[in-house]
Parts: sequence; C-alpha cells; structure tokens
Amino acid sequence: MIEIKQLKKIFNQGTINEKTVINNIDLTINDGDFISLIGANGSGKSTLLNCISGALIPEQGNIILDGKDITLDSQHARAHDIGHLFQDPMAGTAPHMSIEENLALAAKSGSWLAKINENDRNRFKKILSELNMDLENKLQVEVGLLSGGMRQALTLVMATINVPKLLLLDEHTAALDPQSADKIMQLTKDVVEKNNLTCMMVTHNMQSALDYGNRLLMMHQGKIIIDLNKQEKEKLTVNDLRELFKKNSDTELSTDRMLLV
Ligand SMILES: Nc1ncnc2c1ncn2[C@@H]1O[C@H](COP(=O)(O)OP(=O)(O)OP(=O)(O)O)[C@@H](O)[C@H]1O
Ligand SMILES: [Mg+2]
Repeated sequence: MIEIKQLKKIFNQGTINEKTVINNIDLTINDGDFISLIGANGSGKSTLLNCISGALIPEQGNIILDGKDITLDSQHARAHDIGHLFQDPMAGTAPHMSIEENLALAAKSGSWLAKINENDRNRFKKILSELNMDLENKLQVEVGLLSGGMRQALTLVMATINVPKLLLLDEHTAALDPQSADKIMQLTKDVVEKNNLTCMMVTHNMQSALDYGNRLLMMHQGKIIIDLNKQEKEKLTVNDLRELFKKNSDTELSTDRMLLV
C-alpha cells in the first residue's frame, strides 16, 4: 500500500518563476488498485508520478510504501519496488544492447555483467512468447532496431520482470500508432492481472480511463478533484466525465487535448 500525505512540489522556489505543481495531495493507493489518472496538460500528472518514483523530491509531505517512508530515497533505491514507463519507448532501455542483455539488466538489477545462461534465455523466451510478437526469436537483436510497439512491449516486460510493488505508466501508449497502442494496452491489462500488480496509469484518452482499471482519478491544478471507484466509473460516459470535471473545477474542458479522443 502507498500512502501519500500532504504532498507538495514547487518548481523554482523563491524565484519569480515559482510554481506549485502538486498542491497538498493526500492519496492512498491500495494493493491491487489499477488507477487511471487523467487531467489537462500541465495539471501535474507526470510530476506526481515523478515524486513517487523518486525522479523528483517534493518540497513537503511524505510518501510511504508498505509502512516505510521513502520520500527522500533515491530513484535508484526505489527502482526495485517501483517500475516507471514513459511515452518514449526508448526511455528505460539500452538501444545498443540486445533484447536479452536488456532483460538481464532488468532481471538482475545491475549485476547484468553476469553471464546470461541457458536458464535465463529459457525464462526470457517464455516471457516474450506471451507477447505474441515473435520477440522470443530475436533475443540477440539490438533493441534500437525494434519498432516502437515492440520496444514498449519490451519495456513493459522489463519493468515487471521482478514484479514491482507499484507500476507507474505515464502515457505509455501515446507515441504509438493506434494498433500498437491497443496491443500495448491489452498487454498492460494482462500483465497487471496476471501479477496482481498495483498500477497507476496516466492517459489522455478519457475512454481508456473509463475502460481500464478499478479506480479513476482526475487532477486539476495540482490537486485531485475526482476520485471514482469501479462501481462509480462503470456507469459513466466520456460526456459524464466532462460534466463532472466542469462541476468540480469550475472550468470548461475546452483547450485540452483530452477532447481530441
Ligand atoms: N522541471 C520543471 N521545472 C519547472 N516547471 C516544471 C518542470 N516540470 C514540470 N513543470 C511544470 O509543472 C506543471 C505540471 O507539469 P506536468 O508535466 O506534471 O503536467 P502533466 O499533467 O503531466 O501534463 P501533460 O499532460 O502535458 O503531460 C507544468 O506547468 C509544467 O510546465
Ligand atoms: Mg505528463
């Protein structure tokens, strides 16, 4: 379980560019939650994920993972417990290394220089074969040569190979063509269900936010303004969500790229 208490992230503190991007957020993420997180551009979604993964250190507040305060822990120290995927399929992989070397790096958390043996290869092949992308027959291929969809599938496998306590997905399908994006969403659902992962997924696709997960959060100006459980979100349409946003934020959802989908 993750508890976020009174979290505040301020950029450029003490300068004329000072900006509070996360504004006193309180949030409890329960084990097994699959949260979809939506909100306008600049509402603080990525910053929230970055505070949780340790890429950013907040100015105030606490992040507690299974009873341990990790607020000030380095990103590296949290990497074993928290997987983080981004829009760019190249983020998180070593493009000049082969698929099996990347997987070994992820599986062995740094001690990747240890020789990859047949047991490793068989394990990797089994995991990759579940993707149905023929990657199990490409273990020696450099990752930089794969398509965006294949790379993002591999990144998903790498982030979950050691079963993290929390998986953070930051618009991880947004840079892919529609077909690959659908495939990666399906794989995401499968891997989350199979491993009973706790997951927070940012999406700008309001329909995906309604379709996936057991909980829906919406951010606005650094705050969480909507928090819906499975039953509540099941009966909603994209239009209802838009109305709810308007009611809870006093703002029209008009200049936002969420409207595009
Ligand atoms: N390193 C930084 N320094 C200064 N300001 C930043 C920094 N990172 C983000 N911001 C600002 O913080 C605000 C929130 O950014 P963030 O990336 O968290 O938004 P987001 O909800 O993920 O938006 P998007 O939908 O565009 O990805 C924005 O106004 C952004 O310009
Ligand atoms: Mg973002």
